[in-house]
Amino acid sequence: MKIGIFDSGIGGTTVMAKIKELLPKEEYIYFADSKNCPYGTKSLEELKEIVSGNVEYLLARGAELIVVACNTATTQTIDFLRKKYPKIPFVGTEPAVKKACDESSERARIVLLATEGTANSPRTKELVETNKRPEQTVEIVPCEGLAKAIEDKNELEIDQILSEVCSALKKPDLQGSDEIETVVLGCTHYPLIQDKIQEKFPRAKLIDGGEGVAKEVKRLVSQAYNK
Ligand code: DGL
Repeated sequence: MKIGIFDSGIGGTTVMAKIKELLPKEEYIYFADSKNCPYGTKSLEELKEIVSGNVEYLLARGAELIVVACNTATTQTIDFLRKKYPKIPFVGTEPAVKKACDESSERARIVLLATEGTANSPRTKELVETNKRPEQTVEIVPCEGLAKAIEDKNELEIDQILSEVCSALKKPDLQGSDEIETVVLGCTHYPLIQDKIQEKFPRAKLIDGGEGVAKEVKRLVSQAYNK
C-alpha cells in the first residue's frame, strides 16, 4: 500500500520512522512542505489551502492513505480534510495528552510544548479537558519560532528559545510544585531535538504521539488488506 505523509518540513520524518518500524514493507511518499514552514503562525484559511495542496500532491502520486504528520495541521484541519476527501483514509497526529495523563502520577505537573497554532486550537484544549485527572495540571506552552529554528538547524536560536521556555516554567504550578513530571512534545519537529529538551527537563519523562500514529496506520492498513 502506498502511504503518503506530509508535514511543514522535516518534523514528520519522526512520525514516518515510527510507522516504518511497524510497517517496513509498505511504500512511502513523504512531502516536506518546507516552503510554507512554519505552519504554527498560519491562519486557518491559509492552512486549509496549504494542506489541500499537499493532499493533492500526494494523491497525484498514488497515495492511498494519508498521514498528517503535523500536530498544527491535524488539530486545525483534519476534520476539513476528511470532509473534503471522503474516500481517503486520513491519520492525524495530535499532542499525546492522553498518554501523558495516563502514564503520569495522580498529581503530576505536565507540560505540553507546541506551536502557537496547536497551543491555541480548541482541539488541544478539549484534549486537555477530557484527559486530565482532577489533580493533574497540564500547562500548554506555545514555543514561538522553535519548529522553524529546528527546520533551519539554527542551533543558537533553538537554545535561546528553549531557555526562554524554561524560565517561563520556573514558577510553581497551582499546587505549589515546580517539579515537572512529564513533557509532551506536541510538535513533530521537537523529537528531533529530544536530547536538548531532556537536558532542560532532566527528571521529566518525554512523550510524543508518533507511536500512537504508527499503531493507527497499521490498523487501517491491515483492515484494507483484509477487505
Ligand atoms: N511539525 C509541525 C507540528 O507538528 C509543524 C510545525 C510548524 O510548521 O510550525 O506542529
